[in-house]
Amino acid sequence: MTHTKQKVIAIDGPSASGKGTVASRVAAALGFDYLDSGALYRLTALYAQKQGAAWNDEYAVAALAQKLPAVFSDGLILLDGENVSEAIRTESIGMGASEVAQFPAVRAALLQRQRDFLTAKGLVGDGRDMGSVVFPDAELKIFLTASAKIRAERRARQLGLPCEGVAFDRILSDIEARDEADRRRAVAPLVQLPDALLLDTSDMGIEESVKKVLDWYAEI
Ligand code: DC
Repeated sequence: MTHTKQKVIAIDGPSASGKGTVASRVAAALGFDYLDSGALYRLTALYAQKQGAAWNDEYAVAALAQKLPAVFSDGLILLDGENVSEAIRTESIGMGASEVAQFPAVRAALLQRQRDFLTAKGLVGDGRDMGSVVFPDAELKIFLTASAKIRAERRARQLGLPCEGVAFDRILSDIEARDEADRRRAVAPLVQLPDALLLDTSDMGIEESVKKVLDWYAEI
């Protein structure tokens, strides 16, 4: 019996690697939907904060994740009707997302919700465990990364900060700390799977990275 592959491109990689931009552009080019799975973990952290649940309280956070009142619509992310598209992007909520994401109950609570993003249109999903856990039968799996320094520079430019000095050093150390947490956790750690293609974008622009993914997809 041949194993049916899911019409999914799974793009996993570390924080600030640019995978979100690449994934959403690939989705637009192919007419697929796009799943920003990190946003679900960020929303969970923000929702916990708003509801007064501590990020290290696995079961309280999982219960909130289960009923997360989040809506993705027209490029906006709403939580309980409030536009939180920017509020979930802070470094502090990123750290909170990383903390809640280490708990099996939280990951389990968000699993089906992520799978529900897949329709007949096809899906590009980005995160840490798209290829390993959420869509193990994805047609194409990619591990997208860049060096920590390059990722810190991209983040600094996004924030309008110089690529040197105290603020920059802080960004770099935050990125390294989050990489470490995402790689070392026991559940669904960030790893390059044996069946994932490596895309190192340290010396590549967005267009080139998008083209590479589209070329790979055309080849399968
Ligand atoms: O991709 P991001 O920076 O928005 O992700 C925020 C955090 O969520 C990240 O530190 C790890 C976690 N995450 C995860 O554990 N699994 C995913 N599929 C996506 C994100």
